[in-house]
Amino acid sequence: MARQALDRWQLLDNLSTAVIYLDAACCVVELNAAASALLGVGSKARGQHLEDLFLDKDDVGMRAALQRALQQGHPFNKREAHVWIGGQERVVDYAVTPLPTPSGDTHLLMELQAMDRLMRIAREEAWLTTHLATRQLIRGMAHEIKNPLGGIRGAAQLLARALHDRELEEYTQVIIEEADRLRHLADRMLGSHRPPQPRRINVHECMERVRALIIAEAAGAVSVERDYDPSLPDLFIDPDQIIQVLLNIAGNALQALVENPQPGKTGQIMLRSRSQRQFTIGTQRHRLVVRLDIEDDGPGIPEAIRAAIFYPMVSGRAAGTGLGLSIAQDIVSQAGGLIECDSQPGQTRFSIYLPWEEPHDGESMGR
Ligand SMILES: Nc1ncnc2c1ncn2[C@@H]1O[C@H](COP(=O)(O)OP(=O)(O)OP(=O)(O)O)[C@@H](O)[C@H]1O
Ligand SMILES: [Mg+2]
Repeated sequence: MARQALDRWQLLDNLSTAVIYLDAACCVVELNAAASALLGVGSKARGQHLEDLFLDKDDVGMRAALQRALQQGHPFNKREAHVWIGGQERVVDYAVTPLPTPSGDTHLLMELQAMDRLMRIAREEAWLTTHLATRQLIRGMAHEIKNPLGGIRGAAQLLARALHDRELEEYTQVIIEEADRLRHLADRMLGSHRPPQPRRINVHECMERVRALIIAEAAGAVSVERDYDPSLPDLFIDPDQIIQVLLNIAGNALQALVENPQPGKTGQIMLRSRSQRQFTIGTQRHRLVVRLDIEDDGPGIPEAIRAAIFYPMVSGRAAGTGLGLSIAQDIVSQAGGLIECDSQPGQTRFSIYLPWEEPHDGESMGR
């Protein structure tokens, strides 16, 4: 009998659904591996009260439903519930089934499935398809802007030479300067023409370069911390492109902190690196993915543009062109990766996911 029970838990341990077995006081008796992973606890979860590990944001509703299940034997389930797990808000589907025991008590079997991960994957797929169309549109527009600019600039120069009037020359100077500004903008909209030149590199070298640049630009107004995982494997990527991605994101963090100073507090930017196993990007599942986080404790992304920040020309700053993040996402998605963002006042985190691939023959090595 005991052996049979063990085998059952072994079976349960291989389920992707989290399963928790609770006693009549809603304390954990047993949980499978998926539940340990979801709740972020190990065997120490046993004996703990469910509410210490998992709490529906509608806590009153959850308590009432659990009481009904225990006292009247009513099973219940909830879809896309917003719950607290380990201090973080997650979206899960959960179902609770009352189980009468031989001693006359009622115990509860709880099944949980994280939905935020599935929602994330669905969102990414949708994003990747629209992203391609938007890029084409922006490139087309940039070409159209750029085409007549050379002519306008040249004509203004000729006019300036013919005018011999200082006051009028100021006008032609305005035309030339504005044409140059537009040209610079159109160049950024077009993006880089250079194909990526990947080689095997330690990504921390890129992070350190960006850290030095941001420290220099911040001139003491902001502190830049780091938390690297030294065991990260080398990545096969174009270092200049990754530096540009990191700079665009860290530059935004710096701008947000400098433009919104908090009295008596120095803003902080944190650069972090981690590895993650079995991670899905778009539709592709990777054995190993490197995650680079850039986090700041500034005001957060304005809510009105939060859902659209990776689209080109979306900016919350008067002087911004709204291209930095779209360029960064473009580069990273070409490398098979993805950038995610999670932002609230006091904490904004951009996570860059880059897939790791086995070194292959003929690959150019780092310096
Ligand atoms: N760390 C951050 N904190 C607060 N807001 C941010 C942060 N990062 C990005 N944003 C918001 O997202 C917007 C879009 O950023 P993005 O880099 O694409 O464009 P930009 O900075 O406005 O212009 P550009 O980078 O082209 O000069 C920013 O204007 C800003 O409002
Ligand atoms: Mg920017």
